Amino acid sequence: MEAIIFNPKEKRRSGPVIFSEYKRGDAIRKILTMSREDILFELKDSKLKGRGGAGFPTSTKWMLTAAAKSDKKFIVCNADEGEPGTFKDRVLLSEYPELVFDGMVIGGYTIGAQQGILYLRGEYEYLLKPLEDYLEEMRKDNLLGNNILGKEGFNFDIYIVLGSGAYVCGEETALIESLEGHRGEPRNRPPYPINTGYLGKPTCVNNVETLCAVTHIVMKGGSWFAKFGTDKSTGSKLFSVSGDCEKPGVYELPWGTKVSELLELVGAKNTKAVQIGGASGICIPKSQFDRTIAYEDIPTGGSIIIFNESRDMLHVLKNFMEFFVEESCGQCTPCRIGNYKLLEGVEMIERGEYTFSYINKLKDLGRTMQVTSKCGLGQSSPNPFISILENFRDEIFNRPNGGRNGR
Ligand SMILES: Cc1cc2nc3c(=O)[nH]c(=O)nc-3n(C[C@H](O)[C@H](O)[C@H](O)COP(=O)(O)O)c2cc1C
Ligand code: SF4
Repeated sequence: MEAIIFNPKEKRRSGPVIFSEYKRGDAIRKILTMSREDILFELKDSKLKGRGGAGFPTSTKWMLTAAAKSDKKFIVCNADEGEPGTFKDRVLLSEYPELVFDGMVIGGYTIGAQQGILYLRGEYEYLLKPLEDYLEEMRKDNLLGNNILGKEGFNFDIYIVLGSGAYVCGEETALIESLEGHRGEPRNRPPYPINTGYLGKPTCVNNVETLCAVTHIVMKGGSWFAKFGTDKSTGSKLFSVSGDCEKPGVYELPWGTKVSELLELVGAKNTKAVQIGGASGICIPKSQFDRTIAYEDIPTGGSIIIFNESRDMLHVLKNFMEFFVEESCGQCTPCRIGNYKLLEGVEMIERGEYTFSYINKLKDLGRTMQVTSKCGLGQSSPNPFISILENFRDEIFNRPNGGRNGR
């Protein structure tokens, strides 16, 4: 199993797909010999699914945006990276900007957008200057600007906007609201951004890693990409690994890797639980470590948080629920009130003042939130509540001191 690792203890290694070799501008040079249809064909062949979490097929999104009729279109790179435990996009932006920006240029060419926007997480402000300098170099090399590399009418440029510091601003319609200078709140859908996005124009929003994958797919072909991973989860995935392990960092592994294999690779010992997919993901116990990370089993945007035997799972859950109470934008009732009620339930367990029938009602509330919340935040925030209470039942409901563990 080949992996790239960015951590203080290991030297950087090459990876199978994303972290394989690439020289700035090569994919842009290559698309000059390709039609839009050729690029869409390769993307379809690759079966690439968006790496931002929802896993929507990239070829379909690009095809629909390409088909939308408008005088102006936009491609937006979502670099908000707000999911707790995720830092792989930061590594891509700081170490591999050529993959990200060339992917955006390919997107502009394919969907017919003249403008690209990088929505950069507010806390990554320190990356703004180096990335802007990088864009300037691309302009000097005519990889951005008018008549790119001499191709008449191929006009495309990119600017960077700093994010507004809210987790929900990573949700694509809230991101567009934020870009327009409004409060970052998700929009009702439909209409979808592919038809009515930024400034009411067709807009394609893609994750940083998705765009990097596109650049490699253009260079090496869709069928090459599809050879990695599994049937429904092609290619490789970047994992941001943190928590109780010897070698935290960013790892590139093929989809279909077992949780146990990943734990071994990162030097995790006495592991009790793994949170897959960040705060909004699911938490699995030791008995499920032979499960695979893939759309067929456990899908993820890439955050892996490891907890060893010393950790208090109720405290872990409380931390996640506090995050969701803080980050809910408050627009819709199931999420605004629901997260608050779930946190209240965790605190009741902590104090030892609960009944099982009430906790079961809260689980039902969580399931209701999953289907009635307006956006992905409220639809996924009950995941840790449900999975931690179910998978760590004995620990949580047999706490010493009437529910307190003395922490
Ligand atoms: C609360 C919330 C936060 C999100 N944060 C991000 C984010 O930081 N980065 C990202 O790429 N997608 C994020 N998404 C998913 C985006 O809405 C969108 O699906 C994604 O940017 C599409 O890109 P992709 O098709 O390349 O995956 C978030 C979704 C939700 C509901
Ligand atoms: S689910 Fe939560 S974050 Fe999303 S719109 Fe409703 S209140 Fe806002």
